[in-house]
Amino acid sequence: MIGDGAGEIDPEDLDLPLDDTGDDDEETFTELLDFVEEELSFATSHYNDSYLDRRVSSRMRRTQCDSYESYFELLRREPAEQEALLEALSINVTGFFRNPDVWEGIRTVLRRLSGNGPVRVWSAACADGREPYSLAMLAHDDPEIDESSVYVLGTDISRPALETAREGVYEESRTIDLDEQLSFLDDYQRYVDIDGRRYRIADDVRTNVRFQRHDLINDEPKSGFDLVVCRNLFIYIDNAYKRSMLETIARSLRSSGYLVIGKAETIPPNLQSAFAVREARLRIYQRAEPAATDY
Ligand SMILES: C[S@@+](CC[C@H](N)C(=O)[O-])C[C@H]1O[C@@H](n2cnc3c(N)ncnc32)[C@H](O)[C@@H]1O
Repeated sequence: MIGDGAGEIDPEDLDLPLDDTGDDDEETFTELLDFVEEELSFATSHYNDSYLDRRVSSRMRRTQCDSYESYFELLRREPAEQEALLEALSINVTGFFRNPDVWEGIRTVLRRLSGNGPVRVWSAACADGREPYSLAMLAHDDPEIDESSVYVLGTDISRPALETAREGVYEESRTIDLDEQLSFLDDYQRYVDIDGRRYRIADDVRTNVRFQRHDLINDEPKSGFDLVVCRNLFIYIDNAYKRSMLETIARSLRSSGYLVIGKAETIPPNLQSAFAVREARLRIYQRAEPAATDY
């Protein structure tokens, strides 16, 4: 489940395609993806093939299947494997203050926005909530940001992820070092109640944070955001959908609103004119043209 596993990277999961599938039947792979889309209701067509191949290959390795065919057979037969594959396909790796240098950039943006009324922030594809809570903690921590005016909405397509996010309780494990993640802030203990290995987000940090299910491909744009943070999702998405996702985001921003995407992500050429680059290395942009509807 996401609640236990988000952020964990198991060495078995290191995204290496299987070497010995070179001769494997492409057709079987396509059939397998169709099965996952139609029978298991996971929209494989939204994701790029290399991502799907890496995740399927990881399950093949775990189940000792050496061809797509044998794995497809297992998948059709075993409901438990269907669940395991769906879990493997849900991209839930996240963390508090992931890529700390980017968070220094986000701090600068929040400072700039603070002091001019409410600051509306959308953490789109927020996984289990650590990103929106990082935004709220940063607002509390920085004396130049008025935390009472910063409102954070966290959205994701995954219901289990959102359940964890709403609970706001995270567990330390062999592979999740919450102390290290949170130590971006000097005195993070002010913002979490720690009980052994369990970290619970403090009530005052949660006050202005809300969660909602939202599918960036199929749902309507939102509106009026001053800052949208949408990181580490586009890398998995098929190019055909990436553009429409970014359009949804662009339409959700106020004119001159800011956008932060993942450090390994890029804005497609045909949308570049919609955003001015503010910090190229940190992937921080600002909406360039006036919004069609400015709220
Ligand atoms: C790798 S996580 C990124 C989490 C966080 N933004 C970060 O950078 O740490 C990607 C998230 O995108 C979500 N996701 C996948 N497809 C989506 C879609 N169509 N709409 C909204 N969220 C989606 C997944 O459920 C997952 O929680």
